[in-house]
Amino acid sequence: MSDHKASVERHVLVLGTGGTIAGRAASSGDNIGYVAGQVGVAELLAGIEAPPSFMLEAEQVAQVDSKDMEFSIWCALARRCAQALADPAVAGIVVTHGTDTLEETAFFLHSVLRASKPVVLTCAMRPATALSPDGPQNVRDAVAVAATADAQGVSVVCAGVVHAALDVQKVHTYRTDAFASGDAGPLGFVEEGEVRLAKPWPQVSEQGMRFAEDLALDFAAPRVEIVLSHAGARGALIDSLVAEHVRGAPGSVRGLVLAATGNGTLHREIEQAAARAQAAGIRVVRATRCSQGRILAKPGDAFPDAGALSSVKARIRLQLELLGSEAN
Ligand code: SIN
Repeated sequence: MSDHKASVERHVLVLGTGGTIAGRAASSGDNIGYVAGQVGVAELLAGIEAPPSFMLEAEQVAQVDSKDMEFSIWCALARRCAQALADPAVAGIVVTHGTDTLEETAFFLHSVLRASKPVVLTCAMRPATALSPDGPQNVRDAVAVAATADAQGVSVVCAGVVHAALDVQKVHTYRTDAFASGDAGPLGFVEEGEVRLAKPWPQVSEQGMRFAEDLALDFAAPRVEIVLSHAGARGALIDSLVAEHVRGAPGSVRGLVLAATGNGTLHREIEQAAARAQAAGIRVVRATRCSQGRILAKPGDAFPDAGALSSVKARIRLQLELLGSEAN
């Protein structure tokens, strides 16, 4: 961390949430047998220089393996980001995060924040204790994006590539370059602390701020389940969710995302069960299970589609829509 506070003009706030980037293994040769979320975010900044006239400030918001990410952590993170975005001393925000649900947190923040400054999530595929950890360079690159004049919106930085929250997906289980932006392509690249943009920064949504303010209320997340359509699929799982919903069981399902084949098609058994769910008042949305492309709507489609959103992002969008309709 910089200690030249007197000459520093603006801050980059680095919020820690855990992940492999903060993971510890028993030996430096072990890149997979580690425990995620062990090293504090202040320690992750050791040796990372702030760009000239910036100061790095570290704060721990959570310390989890991101496979265990929860809506309550998203709300706490969004609240802290919203406060920092409103602070003129803060130029941008970096969030250190596990890779496994990074795209979900990024999409959540993209949906709820009016990010007129950069909010940059970053991560690592190797633990902090690795012989050659990828975390420090990723943090350095993310800080460079967060300190870039005119940058805005929620993005993800990994292996020198900048991805928009809307498009990014984890696509590899092991390689350090584990993310891709599909058809949309990346937002840009970070090279020796300089950002080279491939396209404009994401538009800032005006609608986002309402959620960011409302998140102070600590909403309970509406339950939305994802059901995969596949060869030999059956509707029993959906029917049991519908039965709970009809009984009014606490925490019963409010929405279903159907991870559909190709251009949004469904196994007939899933389609029939989903129609029963919709008739029972459960919101049903189709998202394609293909990793690229979007669902092109056709006349007569029985269920709305999520366009290019993956099923995990469509689930978040549906949760926020359900929260929005509750609030109105
Ligand atoms: C996690 O997602 O927290 C663990 C895996 C990773 O960060 O690569």
